[in-house]
Amino acid sequence: MDASKPAKAVKDVVEAAAGKVADALTPDVPGAPGSAPPTVEEPTTPHDPLPPKKEQGAPETRTPTGAATGAPTTANGQQGAFLTTAQGARLRDTDHSLKAGPRGPVLLQDHHLREKITHFDHERIPERVVHARGAGAHGVFEAYGTAEGVTKAGFLAKGRTTNVFVRFSTVLGSRGSADTVRDTRGFATKFYTDEGTFDLVANNMPVFFIQDAIKFPDIIHAGKPHPDREIPQAQSAHDTFWDFVSLHTEAQHHTIWNMSDRGIPRSYRTMEGFGVHTFRLVNAAGETALAKFHWKPKLGVHSLTWEEAQLLGGVDPDFHRRDLYDAIEAGAFPEWELGLQVFPDTPEETFAGIDLLDPTKIVPEELAPVQPVGKLTLNRTPTNFFAETEQVAFHVGHLPPGIDVTNDPLLQGRLFSYVDTQLTRLGGPNFSQIPINRPHAPVNDMLRDGFHQQAVHAGVAPYRPNSLDGGNPFPAGDTDGAFVDVPVTVTEAPKVRANPVSFDDHYSQVRLFWLSMSPVEKEHIIRAYTFELGKCYHQAIRERQLRCLANIDPVLCAEVATGLGLPAPEPTVPLVDPAPSPALSQVGRQWPADGRTVGIVVDPTAGLDDVDEVRRAVFAAGMVPLLVAPHGGLVGGLPVQRTFATGRSVEFDVLLLAGAPAPAPDASPARDAKAGAAASAAVDPRVLLLVDECWRHAKAIGAWGAGVDVLRQAGVAGTPGVVTGGSGAEVLTAVQQLLAAHRVWERFPASVA
Ligand code: HEM
Repeated sequence: MDASKPAKAVKDVVEAAAGKVADALTPDVPGAPGSAPPTVEEPTTPHDPLPPKKEQGAPETRTPTGAATGAPTTANGQQGAFLTTAQGARLRDTDHSLKAGPRGPVLLQDHHLREKITHFDHERIPERVVHARGAGAHGVFEAYGTAEGVTKAGFLAKGRTTNVFVRFSTVLGSRGSADTVRDTRGFATKFYTDEGTFDLVANNMPVFFIQDAIKFPDIIHAGKPHPDREIPQAQSAHDTFWDFVSLHTEAQHHTIWNMSDRGIPRSYRTMEGFGVHTFRLVNAAGETALAKFHWKPKLGVHSLTWEEAQLLGGVDPDFHRRDLYDAIEAGAFPEWELGLQVFPDTPEETFAGIDLLDPTKIVPEELAPVQPVGKLTLNRTPTNFFAETEQVAFHVGHLPPGIDVTNDPLLQGRLFSYVDTQLTRLGGPNFSQIPINRPHAPVNDMLRDGFHQQAVHAGVAPYRPNSLDGGNPFPAGDTDGAFVDVPVTVTEAPKVRANPVSFDDHYSQVRLFWLSMSPVEKEHIIRAYTFELGKCYHQAIRERQLRCLANIDPVLCAEVATGLGLPAPEPTVPLVDPAPSPALSQVGRQWPADGRTVGIVVDPTAGLDDVDEVRRAVFAAGMVPLLVAPHGGLVGGLPVQRTFATGRSVEFDVLLLAGAPAPAPDASPARDAKAGAAASAAVDPRVLLLVDECWRHAKAIGAWGAGVDVLRQAGVAGTPGVVTGGSGAEVLTAVQQLLAAHRVWERFPASVA
């Protein structure tokens, strides 16, 4: 975090310390709902709606045709102090239907009753057919100017800033499914450029399951819950998924990415993003280049452990969206650099022998470095989930002048799919006029009428050519910033349903990925395949996938086969030995820890001297401290965020022990077998569980004072990544250094090389 811009949370703490915050219990960590603390008594004095929270943003107020209105963003929200009908008539009562006497029947004439219930009856819209579960945020993109040589896109010109809206998502689960399931993540960005909206509809993995869009319904039908029982939800660990990917082997590359730690990100903030396809760029001189888009997170690429992901599915199914919103509220604004891999636009459309039109292939960064072209900062949470995150509509065909598509057959099919699905999902053809989708460029499109038309088009001639509207709208020329359809030569060829021969290589890059992993990452991949295939009912499917693994690597295949209790088959294709790509590994570097959560266990009866100072130091480091105590309220004058009953280790990136709290009244040491109660009757068993889980998940743990004794009782004292010291400040410094590597990897030496 930029030291010159202290987190909002830091400011709050300082204000609280100065006695400016009247109520010491006012939450000073992110996540509290509402922009003002509520009163115990119901408010009755009429006043205008409260403003949104400070961190909340909303779509700019543009007209349906893109003109800036100058109105505040709250102009799209509810107005006035009084309850009204949708027509603005003030209402006296919304708690009782209009009846023929207190005991009489309800009268049909009750317009308010009918309006209220009718609108409610229609509140839901179809969820997205894929990527239904998501979370969005507003932000800004600032261009470095380094892409000016390859594209004329104005938003990439030096110093240009462009407002954006980003939606992250899972793919398979329904709208209410858990955030932390093993799956690919969507990373879709809407750039509101003044040359028209650009949507970069990306994923957190650089390859896709299929090479041709015609297979998209197949892979999604295979991944979604089984059609008879509608289980399992948001999972690939089932027979139909593995049935498909083991038969349709071009899916193997994307599948190994899903089985790797990339399938269970720690946070949206710690994911890379990839446009997957190769795009064609055109510069001001009309020269073209081929390019792939990359998002690089400032915080590095980090993942959950599998056990954490599973616990979170129950403890906090909203973990990723909460993390995103909380980080923004804490002032730890998530950042990514946009980067380009640029390739010469040759007739073969290949680079270093890699077919650039094959979406199951990457170009290793070591062969074509990712060149940074701008920075994305997410700095506002949405004001209204439905209006913004649910109604946003991305489309790979929304391109500004300077960026064009290629013949990648997956991309070509996507160009059809998005608008088609949105016609149903958003109830008609005018969804580009919904506030979150409104362009920030003048719109003059000759599209008319349709459900929910919000523009009031003037004139009589929505056709071209015309003279009745004075010829307007006029075609734009090169000097007017017209979109460029690059005049690529289409070679004469027979009409076929076939792929280029190069698309037949389904294994060399899967092996490249495997060989690029560190031992601990390899072990996670082995465990993931073993778990997922172990959840399949049918032996034939396991055997078939093992044949695929044999074509990737003998160790991988043998380890998974052992776990499944099956023999490891021999490869059916020659194993190549590509040079590993270190850029694919997540392990081995040091990263900032902005927005990470630090659990601080306190004992209300002792050891509180350092706690306030440590808490401030955590805030000052751009992280969020959560005080964990036997009861809520205040401990040592500081507000408690989690009790032993409400807190769980998976919420914390680091655990600090400032004391050794005795079992609280709501603890059940005798019964609490899961918490290892037998280990100690002196410490609350849930504290021992916290330590145990943090240790199992290779998290840094620190203790001072009586907290050191908890480490001994938990049996982890002196093990890697468990630090003690004379003061809280000393211990915090040590765990911060450990956190920079994300986890204490050496705690679990991997069993594979
Ligand atoms: C033929 C292949 C594909 C088809 C037919 C397809 C289709 C769809 C559809 C129908 C949606 C729901 C859109 C909506 O309701 O607004 C969707 C969402 C999405 N797709 Fe694809 N998709 C394909 C491949 C891909 C690929 C390769 C990527 C990544 C590079 C991708 C990324 C996304 C993302 C991020 C979303 C969520 C957008 C949002 O947040 O609203 N899709 N896709």
